[in-house]
Amino acid sequence: MIEQISAAGSFTLPKTSTTLNRMGYGAMQLAGPGVFGPPRDVKAAVAVLREAVDSGVNHIDTSDYYGPHVTNQIIKQALHPYADGLVIVTKVGARRGTDTSWIHALSRQDLIDAVHDNLKNLGLNALDVVNLRVGGITEPTEASIEEPLTALAELKRQGLIRHIGLSNVTSKQLLEAQKITEIVCVQNFYNVAHRNDDAFIRDLVRQGIAYVPFFPLGGFTPLQSTALDSSAATLKATPMQVALAWLLQRSPNILLIPGTSSVGHLRENLAAAKLQIPANVLADLDAIGQQQHS
Ligand SMILES: NC(=O)c1ccc[n+]([C@@H]2O[C@H](COP(=O)([O-])OP(=O)(O)OC[C@H]3O[C@@H](n4cnc5c(N)ncnc54)[C@H](OP(=O)(O)O)[C@@H]3O)[C@@H](O)[C@H]2O)c1
Repeated sequence: MIEQISAAGSFTLPKTSTTLNRMGYGAMQLAGPGVFGPPRDVKAAVAVLREAVDSGVNHIDTSDYYGPHVTNQIIKQALHPYADGLVIVTKVGARRGTDTSWIHALSRQDLIDAVHDNLKNLGLNALDVVNLRVGGITEPTEASIEEPLTALAELKRQGLIRHIGLSNVTSKQLLEAQKITEIVCVQNFYNVAHRNDDAFIRDLVRQGIAYVPFFPLGGFTPLQSTALDSSAATLKATPMQVALAWLLQRSPNILLIPGTSSVGHLRENLAAAKLQIPANVLADLDAIGQQQHS
């Protein structure tokens, strides 16, 4: 299985010694329904995480607002003490209402509290990578991020955070951020059918910054497309595997964090690391996003 993952290669975050396998895992699906409360079966969630790491995944994406707290606590239960080289990437910038709502939490104190909650629930002294999550539900909004990012950079100087990334941002916000601190990764909504960030990804690869698409499989509305289905039939793969392999071939700075609560789906997703899409099939898949924009 480790050999299978390595087929997708790895990526070193800029100006760091942190190298991530391009096939990673997103832990959001491990919380209860609506990403709120505990899952029905904690043992199954623990099994997914252990299988991911045993298969060679060294990049797990999470947040303390999944659950809230629940997902990080399950990660700690499953994997602590953490293996050398395992990188847990978390994000701050929101909190959950008791009605399961997602609420911005971007004041200096909100961010300090969020970093300490992540440290406590993951059982760490320092967080490898923290993404500052701003903007709307799935799309960025053009507002200044100077104030929250300055607070996060202060926590980095204190040694509580090793590296900083951004989530749900525009290229203009990245430029603003780079005047404040080094940015190692961007996590935005992107997949074979949702390609608003094509130009942004080209800019990021030139700068050596990782691009980590959230909702790589469509998120709460799983991807559905006849082109995806027919490509999958041609390649003797599943549509989800094709969607992941398309992302891996799209750009070398794209790192995958597909989410699942099932070991079966996890295995299927990890196997996409070795799926090669030939040029003619790639053209059919590229057309999915173009249709969306026309
Ligand atoms: N920065 C942000 O704002 C943000 C927002 C959303 C998510 N994220 C991060 O991105 C990661 C990935 O996003 P996501 O989990 O929301 O969406 P996703 O990876 O696009 O899709 C997950 C959904 O697809 C299903 N699935 C997974 N593998 C499958 C397969 N092989 N066949 C059929 N269905 C499959 C899952 O259900 P099962 O559980 O049944 O497999 C789940 O419903 C999250 O874990 C989270 O860490 C970040």
